[in-house]
This record gives sequence, structure tokens and C-alpha cells, in this order.
Amino acid sequence: MTQDELKKAVALAAIDYIKPKLHRDAIIGIGTGSTANCFIDALAEYRDDFAGTVASSEASALRLESHGIEVFELNSVNSISVYIDGADESNHQLQLIKGGGAALTREKIVTAVADEFVCIADESKLVKTLGDFPLPVEVIPMARSYVARELLKLGCSPVYREGVVTDNGNIIIDCYDFPIDQPFNTEKAINNIVGVVTNGLFAIKAADVLLLATQQGVKTLRA
Ligand code: A5P
Repeated sequence: MTQDELKKAVALAAIDYIKPKLHRDAIIGIGTGSTANCFIDALAEYRDDFAGTVASSEASALRLESHGIEVFELNSVNSISVYIDGADESNHQLQLIKGGGAALTREKIVTAVADEFVCIADESKLVKTLGDFPLPVEVIPMARSYVARELLKLGCSPVYREGVVTDNGNIIIDCYDFPIDQPFNTEKAINNIVGVVTNGLFAIKAADVLLLATQQGVKTLRA
């Protein structure tokens, strides 16, 4: 199977996973990226079986609405049953790097609210140690240079992602050359830098389940 076929396969597995959780009041959290897009497209068939969604980006909200799926503001819902999203990397503890699509802050907010976070990915995303993928950090624009200097002190090579403005009006700095042995501590340390909105490590709240598309089928991994 190609990588696109793997993404579609894991999106369908996620539909099977959430089907028993769908009811007329259920709100589903929706992530961002190409794998999440496959999930959105597959979810359209079931749009009458649940109340609606909360999206982690403007792009996902538009795609959901194009399928006639209701999108709520996060502040107008009381709970989210399950959040489905992709990742740029996952380790075997289901700690993730996310934010390749610059949606990390809203993704982390929806993750925080959701009762369960189901990550969907193809097997290329599973790694022993996080950090081959450059870790994205969302930063308040006026703090860009200061945050970059502080990130250097943590041992990475920070690179400003030119031309990218997040849905929140901020910028992204990507941390290269940064093997992450202690994701929990690194997540906290970066978030402690003044001017950082958040970083793309999902270790303090990791995924609950990883549906991993492989050439042998979709595997279900738990931390
Ligand atoms: C968006 O900001 C990211 O966190 C995505 O979830 C991540 O980049 C995975 O994207 P793909 O499914 O396109 O690989």
C-alpha cells in the first residue's frame, strides 16, 4: 500500500473505533492534516449519528462544513467524547510530536478537553526516540528572537518557519537537531519560556490509543 492508502485505511479504522461512541449528543474533536482529512471525508457518511464536531483548525472546520458536518465553537460545548488526529511522530509510549501543519496549539487545547485522544498514523510515524521531525513551537511574534535564543540554550537549532502565521496570529519556530530523550521535561521546559504559546510535544497528555496503519493491517497500540 502507498502512504496515501495507509492514511485512508487508518481513517476507516478510526471510524470503526468511534462508531460505538456515536450518539445524538456526542461531540467529536477533529484534528488537522492529511490523515485527519481522510478521517473527515469518511466521517461524512455518519453525520446524522452525532451532534457535531469541534475542529482544531480553520482548514479542518472548512472541510467539515463542506461535508455538511456541524462545527461548534469549543466554548459552546461541555465535553468532547473523543479526539481524532494525526501526528508527525509517535514513540512507543504514545508521546507525540505534532504541529507540522502549524495547528499545534488548538490541537493541544482540544486534546485537553477530550475524554479520549485517538491518534491515527501510518507506520512511518512510529519512532524509538522523538526528534527526527523538527519540533514546532508556536511563539508570540514580538518574542521571536528571544525565544530562539532560549531554545538554543536547550540544545536545539531553532529555525523560523518563514511565511507561516498560525490560526491564532502567531509564528512557528521549528527545533532541529534535537533528540528528545525526556519528552515530559522538554515539553515543560519549552513551555516555560516567556513568549512561547505552546510546543508540539504531546507528552504531559499523550495519546490514549494509537491506530497505526502498517502493510500488515491497522494495529491498535496503547501506552
Ligand atoms: C498539524 O498541525 C499536525 O499536528 C498534524 O496532525 C500532523 O502534522 C500530521 O499530519 P499528516 O497527517 O498530514 O501527516
